[in-house]
Amino acid sequence: MKVPLFDLTRQYKTLRSEITENIDNIFSSGKVIMGENVRNLEASVSRYIGSKYAVGVANGSDALVISVHSLGIKPGDYVITTPYTFFATASAITRNGGIPIFADVDPVYYNINLEKTEEILNNHPHKEKIKAIIPVHLFGKTINLEKLRQLKEKYNVKIVEDCAQSIGSVWKNEKSGTVGEFGTISFFPTKNLGGYGDGGMIITSDEELYKKASVLRVHGASKKYYHEEIGYNSRLDEIQASVLCTKLKHLDSYTEKRINIAKKYKELFLNEKLDEFIDFPDYYEDRSHVYHQYVITVKNEIRSGLENYLTENEIGTSVYYPKGLHQQKCFEYLGQNIPGKFPVTDFATQHSLALPIFPELREDEQEYVVKTIKNYFRG
Ligand SMILES: Cc1ncc(COP(=O)(O)O)c(C=O)c1O
Repeated sequence: MKVPLFDLTRQYKTLRSEITENIDNIFSSGKVIMGENVRNLEASVSRYIGSKYAVGVANGSDALVISVHSLGIKPGDYVITTPYTFFATASAITRNGGIPIFADVDPVYYNINLEKTEEILNNHPHKEKIKAIIPVHLFGKTINLEKLRQLKEKYNVKIVEDCAQSIGSVWKNEKSGTVGEFGTISFFPTKNLGGYGDGGMIITSDEELYKKASVLRVHGASKKYYHEEIGYNSRLDEIQASVLCTKLKHLDSYTEKRINIAKKYKELFLNEKLDEFIDFPDYYEDRSHVYHQYVITVKNEIRSGLENYLTENEIGTSVYYPKGLHQQKCFEYLGQNIPGKFPVTDFATQHSLALPIFPELREDEQEYVVKTIKNYFRG
């Protein structure tokens, strides 16, 4: 049996007529960029998340860069973030001239460790220049938003929540993206709410910041051809917005399906007593995890043996992420690649492995994945 890590075609079969009809309407209208569909999507996403405003942009990376820019982060300012994330989280800081300070992640969820973050806020030699924190709700697991709010208030720092992987996730009754000055979303096709191309969104409840981000999105011009500052070309197109409006109506049911898949994996792993060999994400009914990725950790050996075995058996896997950001060549100048400084990140980069998860994944496919993992460990 062949089990893909992710398959966009299964979902398309169920949405095809609505999507193609909408695209035909867009082409017939002649308005293909930043029109009615983008405005509808902005209104629907901000309603869904509970923010006052939303700004559609070209991708999730731009959403981060524009948010950091809008907060006024400037050369010489420091921003705390996680080294165990997609590159764009940290490059949004450096592209604005800021200096990332990495804080290691926690060993259970691989989210930024907020205790370590607080230590940095108290003890860093340039602590007075720390202006913001960018946490990532990694793999779809919401970080502790109460603790995050406490840090924001106590240390007077700004927050950009990177929600690229967490749309719809909650902490108690709050959705991810609502504690920070900004939340940023990616609509990359593999995301929980994914388009058929690139797309992204900035959410905020602050009117001034909303205006700032809206202007930066269109080359810093609040009136066409009158540029108050140097911004970006980061428009969202109508086709992606219409696809996303269609899919947003189903997002909660897709999330339910992901949660059920996580529940099933847990059940199957425990039945086979595989917890001796791997750690796997717990099952949370409360939506504090929306399982964008289902990432297991191989306990007693590096992951490559299992990874190769699953590939030989036609099971799709992926590695998020093979290197910590402190180890990236382009960040050498930060001087943070100090052996032993980020032990949890270093462990995760060598031991973690993402298994297939997407709403249409079938139970027999999951059973095959778990049976193959069992064969690898127990022969
Ligand atoms: C955590 C995180 N941040 C930012 C991004 C950037 O989003 P995009 O690929 O839409 O630019 C991604 C997407 O891969 C991501 O996973």
